[in-house]
Amino acid sequence: MPVITNIEDLRVLAEKRVPRMFYDYADSGSWTEGTYRDNEADFHRLKLRQRVAVNMENRSTATTMVGVPVKMPVSIAPVGLTGMQHADGEIHAARAAAKFGIPFTLSTMSICSIEDIAAATGQPFWFQLYMMRDRDAMARMIERARVARCNALVLTLDLQVIGQRHKDLKNGLTAPPRPTLRNILNLMTKPRWCLGMAGTKRRTFGNLVGHVKGVSDMSSLAAWTNEQFDPRLSWPDVEWVKKQWGGKLILKGIMEVEDARLAADHGADAIVVSNHGGRQLDGAPSSITALPAIVEAVGSRIEVWMDGGIRSGQDVLKAWALGARGTMIGRAMVYGLGAMGEAGVARALQILHKELDVTMAFCGHTDIQRVDSSILLPPHRPE
Ligand code: FNR
Repeated sequence: MPVITNIEDLRVLAEKRVPRMFYDYADSGSWTEGTYRDNEADFHRLKLRQRVAVNMENRSTATTMVGVPVKMPVSIAPVGLTGMQHADGEIHAARAAAKFGIPFTLSTMSICSIEDIAAATGQPFWFQLYMMRDRDAMARMIERARVARCNALVLTLDLQVIGQRHKDLKNGLTAPPRPTLRNILNLMTKPRWCLGMAGTKRRTFGNLVGHVKGVSDMSSLAAWTNEQFDPRLSWPDVEWVKKQWGGKLILKGIMEVEDARLAADHGADAIVVSNHGGRQLDGAPSSITALPAIVEAVGSRIEVWMDGGIRSGQDVLKAWALGARGTMIGRAMVYGLGAMGEAGVARALQILHKELDVTMAFCGHTDIQRVDSSILLPPHRPE
């Protein structure tokens, strides 16, 4: 067992343990993958100012995200097919998040269902919704999230049309994998994954299969989802979701100031500055680059969060310094899960927290609430 000291170690282990098509599904972006790479690279362009001879005892990274107390300004992003990175993956990730003290967000396109997570953790979590043409199906999902005690709804706005990932097409991505010669040969090199999957019955999209009219198995699900992502989604639909839900609403996928203002006007409690981890509009700027202007425009009205490219606690601190009152992590969680299940997600969270805490101290602060852009060397914005 290798010694795990950073998120990259978890990525390397996940690559060894997770079947190629699911590893590639996570570790990829759309088209040239330029935006996907920039999300990480642009964090490195921001430089931190070291301070010395400041009392750094008794530090706190605690804050709240839409009123939910969090041990650090991090939550788990919604990630489709998490249950294919590791058997019962969503349950493992949700348990690790609950034990650590940060929110877990369940994707509409998860393997485990809303009810599975509620039963396994007994803790409130967040549910992510895509806008579907079938509004009755959406209303029922919203109701299920309410019954499961979800304490916030994340509505993703950047998937009206779908960005192409070359790797998924070339791998013939399906869940579960089709029994082709190539897949069988690859699965033979992943015994831990296969054993885990053999030990669980949850191999379907639990939020949809058996719950949506006409969706009873994988092939009817594929047909349904292909025509369900609603390309007509516009602001009155956001209002409709807000009314149906009635609780905290987080709008995810905002990259422009105009859209951030509209999100605030339409009653969002928080927005996530996000380019979907570089999986949708290739050519868009990195999220950390888009963040400052959006904070300036609406940061005094609603909570502004960001995601995309966070692989260290330094990244979390830089996002906070630029005004993000919270972050979401996708791949950092996925790598931990693929590497070691719940223990791997827990390890990823410990790593991020330790790095955040120690970096904050190096910058001369003991309380994250007092950290602002003065910890960054000018220019404070990535160019
Ligand atoms: C995602 N993301 C995503 N977002 C969403 O709203 N619903 C979803 O079902 C998914 N599915 C999904 C699958 C995979 C494999 C990835 C990597 C990402 C986007 C996700 O919530 C988040 O915006 C990004 O993952 C953030 O970037 P990092 O942290 O992965 O760099």
